[in-house]
Amino acid sequence: MDKSKPRVLVVHYSSPSGQLSDVIRNFSAPLAESGDIELHEQVLRPRRPYPFPWPVLRFFDTFPETIYLDPPELEPLELPAGRFDLVILGYQVWFLSPSGPTAAFLKDAAVQALLKDTPVVTLIACRDMWLMAQERVKELLSGAGATLIGNVVLIDEGGSIGSLLATPLWMMTGNRGPMLGGLIPRAGVKPEQITASRRFGERMAAVLARRGALDATLLQGLGAVKVNTRLITTEKAARRSFLAWGALLRLLGPQGSWQRKPVVLIYILFLVALLITVLPLSMLLKTLTAPLLRGRIAAQQAYFSQPSGE
Ligand SMILES: Cc1cc2nc3c(=O)[nH]c(=O)nc-3n(C[C@H](O)[C@H](O)[C@H](O)COP(=O)(O)O)c2cc1C
Repeated sequence: MDKSKPRVLVVHYSSPSGQLSDVIRNFSAPLAESGDIELHEQVLRPRRPYPFPWPVLRFFDTFPETIYLDPPELEPLELPAGRFDLVILGYQVWFLSPSGPTAAFLKDAAVQALLKDTPVVTLIACRDMWLMAQERVKELLSGAGATLIGNVVLIDEGGSIGSLLATPLWMMTGNRGPMLGGLIPRAGVKPEQITASRRFGERMAAVLARRGALDATLLQGLGAVKVNTRLITTEKAARRSFLAWGALLRLLGPQGSWQRKPVVLIYILFLVALLITVLPLSMLLKTLTAPLLRGRIAAQQAYFSQPSGE
């Protein structure tokens, strides 16, 4: 170990669909290419791998444990000894929460000790609902005594409505689209955006090489996030619903048990009904009331865009 070089740890769960791995590769390439940085990578591997494509019931049966941050078992971590100058945590959002392997990582006692007094940058690649998940990650990081100094979010190219269908279809069929002549857009983050995420790595590599300040200024001015304020109340309401149904399902039995299956099926129908009725209505209502709530919305936007800003 070269003591003179800043040490950076990059962590992520590499799912079989592979988008986040691709994002991490582009984002952290400048750190890997720099001769001035000691870079370590920790890939999270669940003991019981998640499928891809996801069978429909398995997909939805995952939400109770995910929303309650019940950690799935991971293969042993291979964390090098010693402190890190910076930790980069890449994660997918699952059911408005950090993905299972991410929650497991953050809840691990050895990881919490490693994160104490350490600056952390989070990197999210998800459909487009990440606000509540990042709140959970913030809680876990601050519980470990870590300091969140940056957050970068890449969202799907299909937009809020287009990706509502495209992303679950990708997850459950393996077909990324576009489908039906473009009526259902291509799922996932635009490849150009993934390539362009390199700019964050370039900034980090430059600051680390000159031993600059590792604080909230690190990734500011690079368009790190874009907060869709119309989703704030939707995410809060959906999270409450996940918590209520999740509590019921956890009471019925463990993940995968037959007792849960009928209720999971009912929940899927409930969710579909909600999506085609309540969601468009609430989006319309939010558009209509936005001029009256301008101040409040601006405050929420400022809060959720921290620390890297829009
Ligand atoms: C079980 C599951 C639940 C998901 N829930 C959400 C969600 O609540 N919000 C969101 O924006 N994306 C959600 N996604 C999409 C993922 O965040 C991510 O975009 C997708 O898994 C592709 O990334 P990957 O190839 O790195 O896994 C979910 C995906 C899965 C598999």
